[in-house]
Amino acid sequence: MKYILVANWKNHPNSLDEASDILSQLSKKASLYQNTKVSTYIAPPVSYLELVSKKTKRFAKLAVQDISSKTQGVHTGEVTIDILKSFGVRLAILGHSERRALGETDEVVRDKVKTVLKAGITPLVCVGEGEHDPEGNYFEIIRQQIIGTLSGLKKADVEKLMIAYEPVWAIGTKSKGAISREELSQVVIFIKKVLTENFSRQTADKVAILYGGSVDGGNAKALLHKTGVRGFLVGRASLQAKSFSQIAEAIIK
Ligand code: PGA
Repeated sequence: MKYILVANWKNHPNSLDEASDILSQLSKKASLYQNTKVSTYIAPPVSYLELVSKKTKRFAKLAVQDISSKTQGVHTGEVTIDILKSFGVRLAILGHSERRALGETDEVVRDKVKTVLKAGITPLVCVGEGEHDPEGNYFEIIRQQIIGTLSGLKKADVEKLMIAYEPVWAIGTKSKGAISREELSQVVIFIKKVLTENFSRQTADKVAILYGGSVDGGNAKALLHKTGVRGFLVGRASLQAKSFSQIAEAIIK
């Protein structure tokens, strides 16, 4: 079983030169990112795909942060799945909370999941509550997102995807803003339960659950320890080679 490390660069960095610098830094520790324990994916802005693909061959696979919901026809401004596939994209982050905040519904995410699966690319479906209320109502929100996004899919298809639990309140804060280990393991158990109820135990066992939200070198080890988490989706810390390598180190050591 390999851990999965996904860098979500969002709309950063601001230039091709800066992107090239980050990749050169990362390549100095290539063995941390691709080995028997971990597989690393980098999801840059689409305009950097070619650069990332060229510079990471030894240590990372290519990912995207979203796909177009369009497939056939003419669509000015859209980057469709066939184009992404031709660059060698292997994983697609779908339903990120920053996309959902722009109006993306569970239904739209579900269609994108199907498109991605059809193209033979791995969907990484993001779920997560906006607020972490002490009464625990957030569990219901997570359940609804999972059902809304995956309903109607065949078990065999669900078994090919991964889920990233990304509580919105924990995204983009500093290290201490990440979720606690106890709460994280409860959510992982809950997601497995929802998958078991709606698909099967076997399906639930096959779906890797990642965590995202202020992961960095300081908290990665603790967030992995007995939480059932199979890896991380990392924003801010993935743009600094030092912190990203610390996360990879925490996973493999
Ligand atoms: P963060 O972002 O690591 O900066 O919190 C994670 C994400 O939004 O995927």
